[in-house]
Amino acid sequence: MEPVTKLTVGTPNEKQKLFLDCRKKYIAFGGARGGGKSWAVRAKAKLLALRYSGIRILILRRTLPELENNHIRFLRQELAGIASYSKTDKVFTFPNGSTISFGYCANDGDLDRYQGAEYDVIFLDEATQLKEEWIRRLTACLRGVNDFPKRVYFTCNPGGQGHGYIKRLFIDRRFEPGENPEEYVFIPARVTDNTALLKSQPDYLRQLEALPKRLREAWLEGKWNLFEGQFFEEFTDDPVHYSDRRFTHVIAPFDIPREWSVYRSYDFGYARPFSCAWWAVDFDGVAYRILELYGCTATPNEGVRWTPERQFAEIRRIEDTHPLLRGRDIQGVADPAIWDTSRGESIYETALHHRIFFTKGDNRRIPGWMQMHYRLTFDDEGYPMLYVFSTCRAFLRTIPLLLYSRTEPEDLDTAMEDHVADECRYFCMSRPIPPRKRDTGRLPADDPLNLLRGVGGRETNPLVGTKSFA
Ligand SMILES: Nc1ncnc2c1ncn2[C@@H]1O[C@H](COP(=O)(O)OP(=O)(O)O)[C@@H](O)[C@H]1O
Ligand SMILES: [Mg+2]
Repeated sequence: MEPVTKLTVGTPNEKQKLFLDCRKKYIAFGGARGGGKSWAVRAKAKLLALRYSGIRILILRRTLPELENNHIRFLRQELAGIASYSKTDKVFTFPNGSTISFGYCANDGDLDRYQGAEYDVIFLDEATQLKEEWIRRLTACLRGVNDFPKRVYFTCNPGGQGHGYIKRLFIDRRFEPGENPEEYVFIPARVTDNTALLKSQPDYLRQLEALPKRLREAWLEGKWNLFEGQFFEEFTDDPVHYSDRRFTHVIAPFDIPREWSVYRSYDFGYARPFSCAWWAVDFDGVAYRILELYGCTATPNEGVRWTPERQFAEIRRIEDTHPLLRGRDIQGVADPAIWDTSRGESIYETALHHRIFFTKGDNRRIPGWMQMHYRLTFDDEGYPMLYVFSTCRAFLRTIPLLLYSRTEPEDLDTAMEDHVADECRYFCMSRPIPPRKRDTGRLPADDPLNLLRGVGGRETNPLVGTKSFA
């Protein structure tokens, strides 16, 4: 007989109970944020380790810090006196010989560590963050000749590199030859199922409610089909009038008060288009795209070859002469790639010859798109935080056409003409804002605000010191 070990796992909520009881081979759990997925993973791993002597369990996350924060630090407390932990090997060993190991996979090279590895049970926590190819190779480690159950548990949110694969298997249930539908089950859980979290952190629900509409529907409501269609669906160049309010992002040019700050954002291109824009920011932090220069050598405008020299000479000329810009102190932000010196003089240095200065833009894509979404969101009075002068033709032509990526669900399709969007993103990331205040409670149901888009209300800036959606 095995020695009896006392382990308290706590009380699972209803959805976690279904997860803990399920005996299918491939089990997906969650589908939204904060549903209590990681908790359930730890509970199930502990129960299996105690129930079957000598079972080999793997818990995998995309990165090591995520693994430490979401699992290892909790398990070290929860398993104190029950299983011993080796820091070097990252493995808990139970008195009955069972083990819980930890793994991560953020790059193709990380997979080599799992070459030839064998596990009886694999947990892929946040599996949608993993590429399909990685998931396939990791699940191939599920083997061995003992009688233990062989299972793969996937926890998941919509979005991420594995979105399409997880959606096909567990949501759409479109199976390919060799996949047995009987073996796959999806157990949905949302933050509203996680009674423990709702009680301890009521703010978390409000954070999810404050997200832009599509992300909110995906992460709060667990909808999987949202990352399709127009990327900036909230952008409108066709004013909507409602009672005394007018909703639009596009306005006629006006003179910029001397006291406002002016910025320049730049995305480099030579064979593909480059995009340069000038922005004015008023005392409330509202940004106005006031002027732009956009071009490409491959499809020359009026026969202009837009070499980097030519681009910066023109930018210099515009800043010296244009009535909106001349005599102003202009701060620049640019694609960090222009600092690259691997092919000789960097584009940044070329700009310097023309007294054009830039600071390095923050190139994180998803946070950058979130910033653009936040700025385009209308508040209750119908005001966005970003306006575009009606003369900015490249913006008005390209932004409404951008579509969601088919492979990177929260991103846009980079095969499209996305240079204005990129350059806009660098600008928005240089002045991040929190989501807009949400006060739809007092709005009538047919208020265009409810139709135009969800409005935000998170007090905290998601870009600053956050792990809140971990
Ligand atoms: N059954 C439960 N009992 C107590 N706390 C729980 C339970 N389920 C989840 N939690 C807590 O709720 C929070 C979110 O759960 P977590 O598993 O991290 O969610 P997810 O992985 O889905 O984002 C965590 O603080 C976790 O400890
Ligand atoms: Mg989690």
